[in-house]
Amino acid sequence: MEQKLNVHALVWQDQKLSVLDQRKLPEIVHYETYVTAPEVAEAIKTMQVRGAPAIGIAAAYAVALSVQQNYQLDNSAWRQQVEAEIKLLAASRPTAVNLFWALNVMQEKLEKLDGSPVEVMIQLAQEIHQQDISANQKMGELGADILADAQGLLTHCNAGALATGGYGTALGVIRSAYQRQARRIYADETRPWLQGARLTVWELAEDNIPSTLIADSAAAMLMKSGQVDWIIVGADRIAANGDVANKIGTYSLAVLAKYHGVKLMVVAPTSTIDFAMQSGDDIEIEQRAANEFLPQCYDQADSLIDAWNPVFDVTPAELVSVIVTERGAVFNPAEKGVGELNNE
Ligand code: MRU
Repeated sequence: MEQKLNVHALVWQDQKLSVLDQRKLPEIVHYETYVTAPEVAEAIKTMQVRGAPAIGIAAAYAVALSVQQNYQLDNSAWRQQVEAEIKLLAASRPTAVNLFWALNVMQEKLEKLDGSPVEVMIQLAQEIHQQDISANQKMGELGADILADAQGLLTHCNAGALATGGYGTALGVIRSAYQRQARRIYADETRPWLQGARLTVWELAEDNIPSTLIADSAAAMLMKSGQVDWIIVGADRIAANGDVANKIGTYSLAVLAKYHGVKLMVVAPTSTIDFAMQSGDDIEIEQRAANEFLPQCYDQADSLIDAWNPVFDVTPAELVSVIVTERGAVFNPAEKGVGELNNE
């Protein structure tokens, strides 16, 4: 069933890309409009747009913008310029594989094109966007089937419409499950960037879905209380063996879940699976600046106090109960990995 989408992270209109500036939410709903690829690369780097699938879609539109802007140049010059901008986009954030997947799809198409490329590239970016929404709606139904009559759901970070083309991965499952029957929905605050507090509970409220925010450090207590049956998260990259890179703190939740007999569902489109990467140990974990959470008074050259700020972690497959994708669900991925989902 097609769902109405209320929240849009990315809007393509009049040959321009509008990006909802997620740094300003929930107080301010503000779109920045971009016409060049370097602007979009900067928007990804600075987290105006974030979430693995949304980053990939933004990058696809950015390649279309690059072609649109540079095609007037003579043949080799425009291709060189687009190549350089693809490299710039690829350097914006390292962990989410959707970025590289989308750049690859766009680049492969471009290499095969002879005629005027502008419309074709815009159309391909729009297709990538639409396919992501369809995948999310499909995963929403699949995931909701698995949840059956689970009463309490806890999510981490924001894997919703804001993090994707629309509807969301983990939050898409939560949306679909809630439509079937009301459930208690908990969201972690998600330190240090507060995606849960600033984005997830806001996004749910936009759809009239009630939720309860908890401090990250309250998760063990919540699980012990028996209020939660499932933890539902998205992913930034899934290795072939089923290891899952996602927002920092996911691994802690997975360990806590195992101890308390709570199940862990990972929801991600197959564009998030890096079939060529054998194990999660090889996933590059983005480190962001210490001053994203270090109190300003410590942030000086002669300070004895620094901060360590890895923004993702890797949850071993053995802690994951099920991975839900648009091509189906893999239960107990530690047994055989996720290779069965590879149709190439
Ligand atoms: O640093 P962010 O906000 O880009 O991290 C986002 C996450 O970790 C999400 O859980 C993940 O990208 C999946 S989004 C559908």
